[in-house]
Order: sequence, then structure tokens, then C-alpha cells
Amino acid sequence: MASAFSGNPIKVVVRFSVGGANPKAADNTKSQRNLSLEFDLPNGEVWQHGNISAPIFGSSTPQQLLGRLASLQPDPVTKAADPAKVKAFVDANPEVLLQGRHFASQPVPASYASVNYWGVHGFIFTNSKGKETAGKWVFEPVNDVKGLSDEEAKTKGPSFLFDDIRQRVQQGDASFNFNLELAQTGDVINKATVPLPDGRKKVSLGVLKVTSVSTDGGGECLNINFDPNRMPKGIKGTDDPMLTGRSTPYAVSLGRRLSEGSKQQ
Ligand code: HEM
Repeated sequence: MASAFSGNPIKVVVRFSVGGANPKAADNTKSQRNLSLEFDLPNGEVWQHGNISAPIFGSSTPQQLLGRLASLQPDPVTKAADPAKVKAFVDANPEVLLQGRHFASQPVPASYASVNYWGVHGFIFTNSKGKETAGKWVFEPVNDVKGLSDEEAKTKGPSFLFDDIRQRVQQGDASFNFNLELAQTGDVINKATVPLPDGRKKVSLGVLKVTSVSTDGGGECLNINFDPNRMPKGIKGTDDPMLTGRSTPYAVSLGRRLSEGSKQQ
């Protein structure tokens, strides 16, 4: 059994962020929110997560992700992506639109603490008797999911999530139920664009309580690369190429962040 499930409280470093490559992305848009975690486990074991506010990712292989990004590159003359290239790529890879459709169908999250976060990949848990259980995990706000109406989102403006999370943590209102949705035989668990079917049985893996917030630009999360391939004994991934493809770019990204500094300012 993985040491995370001994029943003893475990210290976790949490990083919330708005998804995508733009450090100045607005908080009041229908886009991805991230919940990244590092569990400091007994005997020096570490478990890292990079969870997102959708049950699926926008591509099923690293090659498809690169192809999609290439098709969206602005033309040097028009400064816009070439619609013909975008369409050709999407026509050949329709699954790249599924995640965007998910975000478009949801309201702007009212807070980092009021939206679900999925691990997206399938993982396999082995108990002390060697029995394996496969599933996908989700962090669900203890105080329910809450979204903003379009009008409320406009009024909130582009920068409210950090003040909001400080306030909620102070009030003890930033907790998540950590649940595992169990896969059944035949369910696809090695493809990041395929969610588990609705209604799969859920089991509780614990409760995540955010109890303090570091000062801006500080905190333990800064030097962590949140590589979901860092797992304790008793937990393993699948052959999902989007999972195995994450270690190298995250290491490069951390290296650049440490040597070049953050790009937020
Ligand atoms: C091979 C495919 C992928 C590549 C190349 C990639 C690339 C990256 C990079 C470069 C970062 C920035 C890391 C940093 O700031 O140091 C990042 C962050 C992140 N990615 Fe991915 N990613 C991939 C797949 C995924 C998938 C499938 C998910 C879905 C769960 C995901 C969720 C996240 C999250 C939550 C973060 C924020 C981590 C943090 O808080 O620092 N990524 N990704």
C-alpha cells in the first residue's frame, strides 16, 4: 500500500495557477485552472501531481500537441494563425477540440477552491496484498463547485483569484475531497482525451485542506516541477504517452525558471 494512505496527516505543497503559457492570463475567463501538489511522504518518498479543471487534456500524444501548437502559430505577415492550417489540423485531429468544448460549457470558476480538478491520466494502485485497482482521481471542493455568471465574471475583473484564495484559506474554506473514480474492465485509461464514463464508483483517498498561503513570489512551490511521474511505491501510471511525455519538458521548464527568473512581472 502506498505510504500516502497510512491514515496519518501528510504535508502537501500546493500551487494554484491559471493554465496555458501566458503568465498574465486573465482570471475571469472560461479556461483551465491548475492544482499542483507535492506530498512529502515518510522515508523520503515524494508524490507530485499536476491536476487540471477538466477531465481531459487537449491532445492525446505529445506529437499531436506539437502539431496543434504549430497550426496555431501566427503568420509573420498577418500576425494571425492561418485559418486553413488550423482547420486542416482540426479536421485530421478532431479530439483536440474536446477540452475547449468542456471549458466553453462551464462557467468561470468563482475561486481556485470552487472547481473540480482531475488528474486526467489513469493510475494503478497496489494494496498490501498485491491487488491492483485502476482509476482516475478527482479533487472535488468540500463546499461544492461554484461558477460566476458572465456578468459577475466581468465585474470581478482579470485579477481576483489570489486575494480570493487568501480569504478562503483564512476562513477555512479551501478543502477538497480527494476521490478515485474506479475504472471497469474495458475502460480506456491510457488516453488523456478520453474521460472515464459518467457514474463510475468513487472511493475516498482523503481530504486536502489548504491551511496557509505564502507571500506572492515566495513559497516552497517555486522550486518544484510537479512531475506526475514522481509517485510513491504502490502507485504507477500506464503507457499513456501524455503522462510519460511530461517529465522532460517540466524539468527543462524548471531549469529555465531557475536560471532566467519568473516571467510574471
Ligand atoms: C507531453 C505533454 C505536455 C507538455 C509538453 C506539457 C508542458 C508543460 C509545461 C512546460 C509546463 C510548465 C512547467 C513549469 O512551470 O515549470 C506545464 C505545466 C502544467 N501542466 Fe503540462 N504539459 C503536458 C501535458 C499535460 C497534461 C496531460 C496535463 C493534464 C493533467 C498537464 C497539466 C499541467 C499542469 C497542472 C501544469 C502546472 C504545473 C505547475 O503548477 O507548475 N500537462 N506543462
